[in-house]
Amino acid sequence: MSELNLILIGSPGSGKGTQGESLQEDLRLPYYATGDILRAAVQEGTEVGRQAKEYMDRGDLVPDEVIIGIISERIQAEEAEDGFILDGFPRTVPQAEALDAAIEKLGRRMTAAILIEVPTDEIVKRLSGRRTCEQGGHVFHVDFDPPKREGICDVDGSALIVRDDDKPDVVQKRLVQYREKTEPLVGYYEQQNILQKVDGTGGPDDVAEHIRGLLATLKREEEMEM
Ligand code: AP5
Repeated sequence: MSELNLILIGSPGSGKGTQGESLQEDLRLPYYATGDILRAAVQEGTEVGRQAKEYMDRGDLVPDEVIIGIISERIQAEEAEDGFILDGFPRTVPQAEALDAAIEKLGRRMTAAILIEVPTDEIVKRLSGRRTCEQGGHVFHVDFDPPKREGICDVDGSALIVRDDDKPDVVQKRLVQYREKTEPLVGYYEQQNILQKVDGTGGPDDVAEHIRGLLATLKREEEMEM
């Protein structure tokens, strides 16, 4: 395929990070997860991190202008010339419009917005059992995807922690934010004819297989058009 500019959309806990990691391995493309970028900024104590922390801790979205600047810079980087995978961005209509403007300026277009669909009761189970690697943000689940050694990341051996925003009251707030601010993107990308829905209720490998299948279909369609 000429280039693959992908967006992963889905409610908190739908599996965007899990699928993003596996897509990055498959496709060898840069993977930009705004939640991970912001958590790293908080840990490093940068100005962006200081601004973002209070919003993240209470389950609100950080202001559009903060996050738009971060992502615009990354998609223009040389490493993203053959494409990129976005996880957690865009998350509002103004963010999606800014992304469209930035990509158009580069003479490119988005390939697909992949919506991972999971019902709310399953989301709550996933977030309450999630364990996240302190160092690299790698994601596990105590029941659905346990690490080989309890409390230790399989990838880099650092400690696994419970994210501050995975506390039940903050999760509820994040779900409300998703419904109000991010769900309108479903219609936005449907109108652009690039929305691809994926059933996210199977195991991580099943969902990954489904995404691989839809990317293979997009590739075949592109080849037929050429
Ligand atoms: P972010 O880190 O992006 O949080 P999120 O969107 O709420 O998504 P999560 O990371 O909670 O879930 P996920 O979909 O990646 O699921 P995961 O793969 O981990 O953002 C955090 C905060 O940053 C936001 O609240 C906001 O404040 C701020 N922010 C970020 N981007 C922003 C933006 N663009 N604008 C403004 N603010 C922004 O999976 C969850 C669990 O389920 C794991 O334990 C996993 O092992 C398990 N699991 C995954 N897949 C499966 C499966 N198929 N079956 C069973 N278990 C599974």
